[in-house]
Order: sequence, then C-alpha cells, then structure tokens
Amino acid sequence: MTSLELVNLAIEAREHAYVPYSNFAVGAALLTKEGKVYQGCNIENSSYGATNCAERTAFFTAVYQGERNFEAIAIVGGKAGEPVHELCAPCGICRQVMREFCKDDFKIFLSKGDGTVLETTLTQLLPLSFSKEDLER
Ligand code: THU
Repeated sequence: MTSLELVNLAIEAREHAYVPYSNFAVGAALLTKEGKVYQGCNIENSSYGATNCAERTAFFTAVYQGERNFEAIAIVGGKAGEPVHELCAPCGICRQVMREFCKDDFKIFLSKGDGTVLETTLTQLLPLSFSKEDLER
C-alpha cells in the first residue's frame, strides 16, 4: 500500500464525519503492520468535549479488533462538503494516543488532497514524549 493509497482511504473515511458543530470533516486511515486498514472519522457531540477525532476513531476501532502493531496513518481534513485543500495535522490528544501503541518511526501521512503526501513520523510530531515505558522505569 502506498502513502497515496492510504490518503485516498482517509478521504473516503472523511465522508462519514458527523460534524454539525464545527463543520470541519476529518478522515483517517490506519495501516497495520500486516497490511490491514482501519478507517475513522470525527464524531462530534453537543457537549463539544465528548467529540472524538478521526484518528482516535480509527485507533480505537483497530484496538478493539485486537490490533496492536501499526505502520502508518493518513489524515485529511477540511470544511465539510468541500474537497480537502489544506493539510490537517493531528491534535495533541491524538498524538498521545498514537504514542500508546506506536514507536518513534510510526509514519504519519498528511495531504492537501492534491495527489501529494507530506510524510512525517510520530517522533517528529511528538518529540520528548511521555509513554508507558516511563512508568516502567
Ligand atoms: N479533529 C480531528 O478529527 N482530528 C484532528 O486531529 C484535528 C481535529 C476534529 C475534531 C473536531 O470535530 C473538528 O476536527 C474541529 O476541531
């Protein structure tokens, strides 16, 4: 699976976003080391705080299915009803959730939906992070 194929699955997932409050639709596609893909969208809530981001929807769905080994995630976002045209970086809470299950080299693919992909890693987006390894010391 190429990074662009994963981005296209994130664009597909974005169609499922439930975003009556922000009108900002996000899609994610999470690739396991075995090559399986779990998609997610953001799901908002009238309390605002109970909103779930697309990335966490994808992670929690995969973890519920027993997955623990992840290779990469693609994320796209933008105004609902319009094609993606800007990069959408993962929020801090999602970066920390990624850290729970992924190593430094976990790949994060962002795209403006123009056929190009910005490839970064978890350690680049969450340097000097806190994780379960810290609890074991
Ligand atoms: N959102 C995501 O789904 N992922 C991110 O990493 C950034 C923010 C969602 C949350 C909320 O539904 C909307 O985008 C606006 O913040």
